[in-house]
Amino acid sequence: MVMLSGGALAETIKVGVIGPFSGPFAIQGKNFKAGIDAYQALHGSKAGNDDIQIIYRDVPQADPAQSKALAQELVVKEGVQYLAGFYFTPDAMAVTPLLKQANVPLVVMNAATSVIVTKSPLVVRTSFTTWQTSAPMAKVAKERGARKAITVVSDYGPGVDAENAFKTSFTGVGGEVVGTIRMPLSTNDFSPIMQRVKDSGADTLFAFLPSGPTTLGFVKAYNENGLAKAGVKLLAPGDLTQESDLPALGQAAEGLLTTFHYAVSHDSAENKKFVEAARKAIGNPSELSFPAVGAYDGMHVIYKMIEATAGKQDAQKAVDAVKGLAWESPRGPVSIDPESRHITQNIYLREVAKAEDGSYYNKEIATFEKQGDPGLAASK
Ligand code: PHB
Repeated sequence: MVMLSGGALAETIKVGVIGPFSGPFAIQGKNFKAGIDAYQALHGSKAGNDDIQIIYRDVPQADPAQSKALAQELVVKEGVQYLAGFYFTPDAMAVTPLLKQANVPLVVMNAATSVIVTKSPLVVRTSFTTWQTSAPMAKVAKERGARKAITVVSDYGPGVDAENAFKTSFTGVGGEVVGTIRMPLSTNDFSPIMQRVKDSGADTLFAFLPSGPTTLGFVKAYNENGLAKAGVKLLAPGDLTQESDLPALGQAAEGLLTTFHYAVSHDSAENKKFVEAARKAIGNPSELSFPAVGAYDGMHVIYKMIEATAGKQDAQKAVDAVKGLAWESPRGPVSIDPESRHITQNIYLREVAKAEDGSYYNKEIATFEKQGDPGLAASK
């Protein structure tokens, strides 16, 4: 503690960040860190009078027990005043019961199942939900002539939400869902699933898997099993074409349509600054992907919370202070819905396109403005 000239006390506020920093999803955790580093590079490492210290803990794959144990350790031994990060839904869900007693807000920087924010009044989310990103895709599908769709999703929270979002929205615009396939999170041989898709007679495959090695494998399997040739169109939320996968997918990804809250190519001054700082932080520019923007905006929210509480530990006051907060994110205009504490944002339709230098990128081609989370209304 340092006494400042005006009599205020400067503290070091600790923020505990849990994510996958090693193993198959390490690049996603690396993006959390790049977003946080970019925020501090552009806005400093102080919020108000207080110094901010980030403490990272690694949960390589979805592992609720490990996530909970590390969150407890961060609160009890490290004395963190904020918890943040959380790539996978089960890891965030496991921590929500701890927040009230610990007097700690949780800022979700990725996990995308709608229900997470309802598990504690101390949760705020700056990423997206799969309801939010999937529902607009049903409209796109219909407009582009899809009639019969089959859904394929990972069998856990965000996958089930994506399936329900697409099904509800697609049937709402007169489409037909001829089949729904849920596969275990650990699935990595997709050939039998592609065969079932072919056999279903669907003209459209809607798919959600959490971004990582399996999304890369899934898109490859779609191509290698001849689905495109058989006339089955692949539509998905943007998890399937994250920028860091595009070099490995190459031409196989060209023309794929996805809906998502963020593209690295987003054309705005705010995004230019962000991309420059985040690329510097991550080292390899082609590794920059969406978890970085969830983390960057998560830090914005945490800085506002720290300023509003002058560094004192008061989780409810901190959360109340960001209800309704609106700002210009690298993804576009956003705000925190005061009721759900989830982020309201534009969802963009993007097409994987080839740049002049031969690289591939997600090109934004249409905007669904100011989307809330339809999943919360649907689960009431
Ligand atoms: C999640 O577990 O909530 C999750 C993870 C990765 C994604 C989307 C959702 O790309």
